[in-house]
Amino acid sequence: MIAVLNGPNLNMLGMRQPEIYGHATLDDLEQVCIQAAEQLDVAIDFRQTNVEGELVSWIQECRGRARGIVINPAAYGHTSIALLDALLATGLPTVEVHISNIHRRDAFRHHTYTSQAAIGVICGFGVRGYAMALRALYDMIEDEDER
Ligand code: DQA
Repeated sequence: MIAVLNGPNLNMLGMRQPEIYGHATLDDLEQVCIQAAEQLDVAIDFRQTNVEGELVSWIQECRGRARGIVINPAAYGHTSIALLDALLATGLPTVEVHISNIHRRDAFRHHTYTSQAAIGVICGFGVRGYAMALRALYDMIEDEDER
């Protein structure tokens, strides 16, 4: 199973600054992930919360349950050492996703603490970035298994 975790305000997708985040809703985003996971033949656990501590707990619960994590920490990526520590504690391969290209935006969005725990970061490709992240993470896990 791969956990797909989403942080604050992503429940507002579709209504929220569509010029930046597009028109897809959180349900649409979940469908993108379900489709990608079906193609890969891997199970996913897709979740969203606005609460930082809940994300920390979900990340902790991934230990022993998930083979990897795809996370859009949203604004908490820019602020949360707690999320970074939780990701490091799981020791699970992680890919960070952002719908928008955070490097084309405000300077305070250019840095994320969480990326320090990630294999890589995909940003700027809209919701299809999640499908890219799932494929990339799946490939990395398979490679690791073969060794
Ligand atoms: C975001 C980018 C963040 O800077 C922002 O705070 C978000 C969404 C993205 O997916 O583009 O809430 O993570």
